[in-house]
Amino acid sequence: MALNRALIFLGPPGAGKGTQAKRIAERYQVPHLSTGDMFRDAVACGTELGLVAKPIMERGDLVPDPIVMGMVEERLCRPDCSGGVVLDGFPRTLEQAQRLEPILERCGLGKPWVIDIHVDDDVLVRRLSGRWTCSVGGEIYNVYDAPPKNAGVCDFDGGKLIQRLDDRPEVVKERLRAYHKQTEPLIEYYRRQGLLETVDGSASVERVSSAIARVIERAQGRDGHL
Ligand code: AP5
Repeated sequence: MALNRALIFLGPPGAGKGTQAKRIAERYQVPHLSTGDMFRDAVACGTELGLVAKPIMERGDLVPDPIVMGMVEERLCRPDCSGGVVLDGFPRTLEQAQRLEPILERCGLGKPWVIDIHVDDDVLVRRLSGRWTCSVGGEIYNVYDAPPKNAGVCDFDGGKLIQRLDDRPEVVKERLRAYHKQTEPLIEYYRRQGLLETVDGSASVERVSSAIARVIERAQGRDGHL
């Protein structure tokens, strides 16, 4: 079945948004749009956007809304998003959420579905300290719970695994602070509109995936309401 929606993954740093977004995007054959990945690419390429975003990300703060919106709007307008899109790490502020609405209407995607992945802070800190990401294909590993077969090497493409600079404990603390202050209020914002379901993100990756699949299938059977 086609997605034909924007599916938003909300949740704190390390909740598993990237892990789950990748799976759902593959399942429905729609683009996976991660604003964090887009900023990291810009930083790696040394573009003007990357130069602005780099110090902000290294502090664990959020990139200002106008910069984020410009980047996202340009991407969402491309034809490959017309059958649906998975949004990972966006929106993250009330302003971003409100400015997303007319963009989705214009793209013919209507109201989004929002999945809030809930995980307690102490679990998140452990997860982020164990995360390694493939520098080629972006596959995500965890030395504690989902290690690669050979240390430091991606199982799929042999790419070198790297650790993110913003996974240092002092930056993780700031990212969690930014999440609770600026992003967590979106849970209530979307819940009030009947667009949000919460899943328990502390279960295994497979169990979380199954819970998300059930939410989407239920919504598809209910004429679009979550
Ligand atoms: P971004 O890249 O979006 O980072 P984040 O939201 O902090 O989220 P993470 O990528 O750290 O975690 P995740 O939830 O995707 O978890 P993952 O699946 O990797 O943003 C980075 C920065 O960019 C921001 O701080 C900000 O500066 C800027 N930015 C981005 N978007 C922005 C926006 N919209 N506005 C303003 N600024 C923006 O999993 C984490 C680890 O846990 C992995 O090792 C994984 O293997 C493991 N794991 C996952 N699920 C499970 C499970 N169920 N059980 C056990 N382990 C698990």
